[in-house]
Amino acid sequence: MAKIWYLGHSCLRVEIGGKSIITDPFVNPNPLAKNVDLNTLEADYILVSHGHEDHIADLIALAKQTGALVITNFEIYNWLLKNGVENAHPMNHGGSHSFDGIKVKMVNAIHTSSFPDGTYAGNPAGFVIWSEDKQIYFAGDTALTYDMKLIGEEFDLDLAILPIGDNFTMGYEDAAKAADFVQCKKVLGMHYDTFDPIVIDHDAARSHFSNKGILLELLGIGNNIEV
Ligand code: NI
Ligand code: MN
Repeated sequence: MAKIWYLGHSCLRVEIGGKSIITDPFVNPNPLAKNVDLNTLEADYILVSHGHEDHIADLIALAKQTGALVITNFEIYNWLLKNGVENAHPMNHGGSHSFDGIKVKMVNAIHTSSFPDGTYAGNPAGFVIWSEDKQIYFAGDTALTYDMKLIGEEFDLDLAILPIGDNFTMGYEDAAKAADFVQCKKVLGMHYDTFDPIVIDHDAARSHFSNKGILLELLGIGNNIEV
């Protein structure tokens, strides 16, 4: 079993393989997530997709507070070391690695990546996370790309966590195609409603997916689903 809490934007807590993972920490600057208390979050691992502010704003604080191992690209790994976070693990695209309880593969994402000060943060990524019984794709910020078909060929996903807000990433129509590419019938939406350009019509998004035979879950912040 895996359990996934939506903490707003692209920040999720994923329980899988007996471990607790937090993705792209962005809580305190997100007014929609005001009921999430960053100080009480616990994690074994923190996964970071790219260097944009809306994915790393709370990263250093959360890493220091939890002592979690941060799994991210080589450039963000080096930036963490310089900022006093030494419990980190660098990866690059196409690589998989076994951690205690889970395996992680870093996969392609079509986007950009830089730190809030404009310096280079490597290339953006998504992750496939799996345990003995569950497989989850966390896409990060990305456009629709044919590369997603490789994920569908390799994995038997229980859940695809996809950006659906449009403007900075794919919108929900492309995300429904992405669900086809990765061959997953259950999608959890992320990266929507946080900023004006990514506010979406929830009912329209849900019905677009259901017309294709795919379930789109849109969770209230703090709520969870099990897969
Ligand atoms: Ni971004
Ligand atoms: Mn973003």
